[in-house]
Amino acid sequence: MSTASLDDLFEHELEDIYFAEHELTAAYEQMAEASTDEDLVAFFEAHVEETGSHIERLVDVFEATGEAPQTEECEGIEGLLTEWEEFTADHDPGPVHDYYNVVTAMKTERYEQTAYESLVALASERGDEEAMDLLKTNLDEDEETLSDLAEMARSFDYDSL
Ligand SMILES: [Fe+2]
Ligand SMILES: [Fe+2]
Repeated sequence: MSTASLDDLFEHELEDIYFAEHELTAAYEQMAEASTDEDLVAFFEAHVEETGSHIERLVDVFEATGEAPQTEECEGIEGLLTEWEEFTADHDPGPVHDYYNVVTAMKTERYEQTAYESLVALASERGDEEAMDLLKTNLDEDEETLSDLAEMARSFDYDSL
């Protein structure tokens, strides 16, 4: 055992979210396919694109910090996605499943939000402004996504269930 430094933690968190963003790209593609509401399909497809740009920004963060891009298995995101897959295997597409897709994406976006909040704080503590700006851009976009999802959940037509 050794004492973790701030740099160790930053690296760990960066590799964790880098892994998570890759998992989420595939997951949001599957959620688009498993959704029946046209707006929701378009929403997931758009966020697949956006997630791709988050991955590119993370590569830039690795470069800014002089590290080669590496992944660290993110069991938190994997767990949420495993639950989604299990429900999906047992239930047909339709309004209830659409709603569950929104709820699952809210969970994963909240995970991302927290991960990016802490990474922005750690980058700031390290005095790495370039990394901080890149991470903050990803944070802002995922917060926007989360707020769009929350609006969809709020305005969901429960009578259709
Ligand atoms: Fe993201
Ligand atoms: Fe996201």
